[in-house]
Amino acid sequence: MDRGYYKTKESVEEYIKLAKGFNGSQLIEKLKKVLPNNSVLLEIGSGPGSDWEILKKSFNVVGSDNSAEFLSFLIAKNPNEEFLELDAITLKTDKKFDGIYSNKVMHHLRDNELTESFKRQHDILNSNGIICHSFWSGEGSEIFKGLFVNYHNKADLKKFYENSFEILHLDFYKEFDDNDSLLLIGNKK
Ligand SMILES: C[S@@+](CC[C@H](N)C(=O)[O-])C[C@H]1O[C@@H](n2cnc3c(N)ncnc32)[C@H](O)[C@@H]1O
Repeated sequence: MDRGYYKTKESVEEYIKLAKGFNGSQLIEKLKKVLPNNSVLLEIGSGPGSDWEILKKSFNVVGSDNSAEFLSFLIAKNPNEEFLELDAITLKTDKKFDGIYSNKVMHHLRDNELTESFKRQHDILNSNGIICHSFWSGEGSEIFKGLFVNYHNKADLKKFYENSFEILHLDFYKEFDDNDSLLLIGNKK
């Protein structure tokens, strides 16, 4: 599987330009309703760090990514902050969190990888911990810019979280077009 896109300097620079002006503020407003201020929050796939900057205003946020290029960009911009090199699937860390957030990251995981990720998220969350993740809504999967993209709908997401998380919010929202995205917020069972 080619996951090269976010791994090269050129593609990371391109993504940073394309994503300028976009952020997850509407998702973070929903998260703030269920996760208390100053909670310890892990962001998976921080990318350029636009959401990380907003999350930082309310939470003790630890950014992460599995791309060394994105991590060096984040560290150069925020030299005194903590960023972890973490893969969304394995989440190899001994740290524990009150919440885990990602914006448009989990769609890069295949079905079995998403199941594994949710299990690991359950492990590294404190009791009653919160998850908050966005997905592209739709059916099937495709390769876009050499990257695997897995589309989800409300019903198919259920099988991934139902053993480990109770759903607090699962609904469509608009990133570019009406209902093109899904936001899932849940708490650890
Ligand atoms: C579409 S970008 C989103 C970045 C950022 N969250 C945003 O909203 O702009 C996807 C991000 O997920 C990261 N990513 C992709 N697969 C990942 C994985 N398996 N583990 C951790 N990060 C991953 C990429 O490096 C990239 O930073």
